[in-house]
Amino acid sequence: MFAILKIGGSILCNKDIPYSVKWDNLERVAMEIRKAMDHYLDRGEELKLILIHGGGSFGHPVAKRYMRGGKFKNMERGFWEIQKAMRRLNTLVIDALHEYSIPGVSIQPSSFVAFRDNKIHFDTYVIEGMLKRGLIPVVHGDVVIADRENYRIFSGDHALPYLTKKLKPDISLHASDVDGVLDPEGRVIKSINLGNIGEVVKYIRSSEKEDVTGGMYLKVMEACRLGVKVLIFNGNRRDNIYRSLIGDYSIGTRINFPL
Ligand code: IPE
Repeated sequence: MFAILKIGGSILCNKDIPYSVKWDNLERVAMEIRKAMDHYLDRGEELKLILIHGGGSFGHPVAKRYMRGGKFKNMERGFWEIQKAMRRLNTLVIDALHEYSIPGVSIQPSSFVAFRDNKIHFDTYVIEGMLKRGLIPVVHGDVVIADRENYRIFSGDHALPYLTKKLKPDISLHASDVDGVLDPEGRVIKSINLGNIGEVVKYIRSSEKEDVTGGMYLKVMEACRLGVKVLIFNGNRRDNIYRSLIGDYSIGTRINFPL
């Protein structure tokens, strides 16, 4: 099984308090990944996994401090401050994985990812080599350089579709803090497909919380273009991460569009 799993920053952090970690959730995420790895090992199989995590209350508040009128300013300091905030969170995530003997290794996008002509430039040779060696690359949202001496936020919502398109996992998993894509009555839409996509798009409103990147609309539109199964589910609920990794796709909204 090859999965790419994005853990939204709101699962790992309390977004209202800078640098606050939801320690219980962080430990639970690691424990559930371990359980899923053991599930495959018991069957003589392997779980190949790329983990992506967002900025949460580390990257976002620092990035906002350097944002003026939609542009980054004073970035000779801002770049390393955002990078440093994200490095701190990434270290905590990786430490939690190591506690459960999960071979997580850090991938810091600000060191090698760029936006060129509005397109992501991200060499995955090393990540692919790590996967072949049984390592688990842990990519995080970050600040990266962009055209015309600008900067941009490279979010988990960029990393997940980019890596999914390029590396074609069996499943692209989106652990957020909602139960999936909701209909107007607040019920989870179990499946999004060619038959209901038009209707579904109407329901989706952009995320209400302040965020320097996109919300559910962006996630769904991206997911439809991947040509790979996508599952959007609530990573705050116990066992959901484990269940998503062992192929139980009943826990959220499944999006499956042939290309
Ligand atoms: C944002 O990453 C990274 C920075 C702000 C530096 P994401 O956009 O993926 O973070 P979350 O999931 O919303 O917290």
